[in-house]
Amino acid sequence: MLATIDRVEGEMMAEIGSTPDLARLDELRVALLGKKGRVTDLVKGVSSLPPAERPAAGQAFNELKRSLEAALLERRTALAEAALEARLLAERIDVTLPARPRDGGRIHPVSQVTDELTAIFADMGFMVAEGPDIENDFHNFTALNFPPSHPAREMHDTFFLEARQDGEPLLLRTHTSTIQVRHMMANKPPYRIIAPGRTYRCDSDATHTPMFHQVEGLVIDRRTHMGHLKGCLIDFVRAYFERDDITARFRPSFFPFTEPSAEMDIGCRRTKEEIVVGEGTDWLEILGCGMVHPNVLRAVGLDPAEWQGFAFGMGIDRIAMLKYGMPDLRPFFDADLAWLHHYGFVPLDLPTTFSGLSR
Ligand code: DAH
Repeated sequence: MLATIDRVEGEMMAEIGSTPDLARLDELRVALLGKKGRVTDLVKGVSSLPPAERPAAGQAFNELKRSLEAALLERRTALAEAALEARLLAERIDVTLPARPRDGGRIHPVSQVTDELTAIFADMGFMVAEGPDIENDFHNFTALNFPPSHPAREMHDTFFLEARQDGEPLLLRTHTSTIQVRHMMANKPPYRIIAPGRTYRCDSDATHTPMFHQVEGLVIDRRTHMGHLKGCLIDFVRAYFERDDITARFRPSFFPFTEPSAEMDIGCRRTKEEIVVGEGTDWLEILGCGMVHPNVLRAVGLDPAEWQGFAFGMGIDRIAMLKYGMPDLRPFFDADLAWLHHYGFVPLDLPTTFSGLSR
């Protein structure tokens, strides 16, 4: 009996050692040690031995099982390591290769348009400035020359937040003009910035959402004048709408933080279904602008006798709707994948003024 055990142990060990993969190893484990396995069969023979030989045979079988189990485990570990090694080799990726655009992810039109207008203004020498969404009265109103009783301060426009512990009342900024104030207070002139960002007003219909996006522009220098404002903004709309023939006009308007103030209209053709920019005889309001009010310059510590310049503010969602023909603003913020797939942009087509903005 003991000689048989020795012989089968040699055979079984050889079988384990030559198993090519994990699945076969598992089959072999069952074939050897399972309920109907070969070792189990042999163990049954112990009962037919003379009683004196049984303990030795039983012990030998236990040792056989232990060494088979150890050999199986060792082989399993080796095979698993080899499998992992092979997989790592097969799935190796070259991270220096450009990514392949996959069907699925899309860039939101607001991000796309923000990238587009940033590319245009960057070419004109503007830098991007930022500021917080949660603001105080000073940055949102007072420093921008809003009189204490100005209607924009009232509850129906502004989302007011709970006051801070020190009693300072807070609000969600109603425009990105706050960033003019912050940028001028934190930096020395001259300035040439744009500031895209989220803005908030208590308003909701097809073209208004409580959260929307604006881009603010500010140029302050010693001699910057209204002619620079007009040239800069006309250049911008032509670059943005990718048409050199866009006409523009500046209508007198009012903003507390500019004097004189204007609204810029661009030429368009309006039909029942759509608005085509750059054609026709209709006008479309596109942004507010003006020469920065001396009171604003004073509020941030600049001498208006020394410094002057212009500012403008534009709705990003609105110019996105105009350029890409989206009739309703509300789905912009519904996180609807079908909408995003339809109106979104392929991730790797970064807009630049030299390669084309929207292609
Ligand atoms: N802050 C204005 C608004 O939210 C937009 C605006 C108009 C910004 C004229 C300006 C400006 O900088 O000069 O309606």
